Amino acid sequence: MMTTAVTESGAAALALDGVTRTYGGGAPALDGVSLAVPRGRFVAVMGPSGSGKSTLLRCAAGLERPTAGTVRIGGTDLATLKASGLTRLRRDRIGFVFQSLNLVSALNVRENVTLPLLLAGARGGRELDARALAGLDAVGLADRADDTPEHLSGGQRQRVAIARALVNEPEVVFADEPTAALDPVTAAGVLALLRRAVDERGRTVVLVTHDPVAAAWTDEAVFLERGRLVGRLDHPDEAGVREALGVRAGAGPREARGLRAGADAGEARGVRAGAGVRDARGALAGAGRFGAVAR
Ligand SMILES: Nc1ncnc2c1ncn2[C@@H]1O[C@H](COP(=O)(O)OP(=O)(O)OP(=O)(O)O)[C@@H](O)[C@H]1O
Ligand SMILES: [Mg+2]
Repeated sequence: MMTTAVTESGAAALALDGVTRTYGGGAPALDGVSLAVPRGRFVAVMGPSGSGKSTLLRCAAGLERPTAGTVRIGGTDLATLKASGLTRLRRDRIGFVFQSLNLVSALNVRENVTLPLLLAGARGGRELDARALAGLDAVGLADRADDTPEHLSGGQRQRVAIARALVNEPEVVFADEPTAALDPVTAAGVLALLRRAVDERGRTVVLVTHDPVAAAWTDEAVFLERGRLVGRLDHPDEAGVREALGVRAGAGPREARGLRAGADAGEARGVRAGAGVRDARGALAGAGRFGAVAR
């Protein structure tokens, strides 16, 4: 079990209280969101495009200050931190997988993974390289350590980004649609990595996704609409998530079209509704593409 001296005992890993974020004079991107995520939980944040999911993640991770409300990481109120303290907290206690990957193309894969440790003041050298290699091994990419990101596939890059987000052993990992551009088997490999970080390392993971198959890997799904939290599901399964999104889709034709398009794309890829996760997991084990994941 993970222990962190800095974390107040009993505090949620992440707690948002009445978080609002407005940009300019328009409608708020986030509108009074309250959400508590206990340690060791895997949470999916879902909702239509523009509903505020990325904004929620950026505010929760201290990348952006909310207009109102409080964000606490392990009991620390981010508003009480000066810029330098916030930078330290982000560096030491948070991992972030961006919607666009943010790998540094001038660095090789191993150097990309060690970057957060170097920024945190660690000395480069064998020990650091060994840590990066262990992280890359866990995502099945130890043999690509010397390649640059441009030589990797989209799924491999995504796994490097996850290795990088986990390398500093963060309390909370935020991942913004890390599987959006991946085929179902590769996506399942990435989700299995995040699941393992929760189950085996006691991490807390907050995952933004549009995909009911991805949400089914999590412990809880919460639903955003126009910046507000409008529902949640415990132990979400794919059918339950589709239904929850479908109920909301009924309220607006745009969402309904989005959902239908997603379902069609899934069918076109040969993913059967209702069996997607298990199929993907089976395919994963069979394909052996993520040998390190199944270890
Ligand atoms: N930096 C910004 N400046 C102005 N408006 C912004 C900014 N970032 C986000 N917004 C607005 O806030 C709202 C929520 O955006 P956000 O990116 O959080 O949505 P999202 O749910 O992540 O959408 P998607 O699924 O398309 O990624 C949108 O209306 C968006 O235009
Ligand atoms: Mg987004």
